[in-house]
Amino acid sequence: MDVYLAIASKRDQRDYADTPIPEDLVRRILDSGRLSGNSQNRQRWEFVVVETAQQQLAETVWQPRNVLGAKLVVAICGDAQGIDVGRCAQNMMLCAWGEGVTSCPNGIRDQDAAAEICGAQVKLVLSFGYPARPRNPESRPAEDWSARAKRKPLDELVRRV
Ligand SMILES: Cc1cc2nc3c(=O)[nH]c(=O)nc-3n(C[C@H](O)[C@H](O)[C@H](O)COP(=O)(O)O)c2cc1C
Repeated sequence: MDVYLAIASKRDQRDYADTPIPEDLVRRILDSGRLSGNSQNRQRWEFVVVETAQQQLAETVWQPRNVLGAKLVVAICGDAQGIDVGRCAQNMMLCAWGEGVTSCPNGIRDQDAAAEICGAQVKLVLSFGYPARPRNPESRPAEDWSARAKRKPLDELVRRV
């Protein structure tokens, strides 16, 4: 998928189909996190794939049902700071969306419990799955997706000095 189209059509979705995500795609999603540029290339992160503890981890985020219904749950853990976590998360989510898998970032409500489950400080939890209500990015041009997105207009965000 064209990169701009992927960015423009990507919405954070919270309802996932039962269809499992193939292992090779799971690997590409995780590898997209690994490849992320980061501060001084220190790579101060681990990607914890939460399987048997999915239900317990769900209780530690703000919207448990996002995690409970997910077909892949990845906790970005470690000492990585804001911009690094953001780049890593977006890389994983865009890689997934490029292959039809949608996702949502999840903030942590109970840091201590999440750290206990994952064995490290949890910065962000990503829930993934094929969308319960399929959306075809190719059904409209990127410019249409952009115009439909609930975002401030570019004119309000861009200044030239
Ligand atoms: C750091 C971060 C934390 C977020 N935490 C949550 C969350 O706890 N629960 C949730 O449902 N969505 C969460 N979101 C998703 C935002 O609500 C979402 O990005 C925003 O509503 C835009 O959604 P859209 O792209 O579908 O328009 C989070 C997003 C970010 C960037």
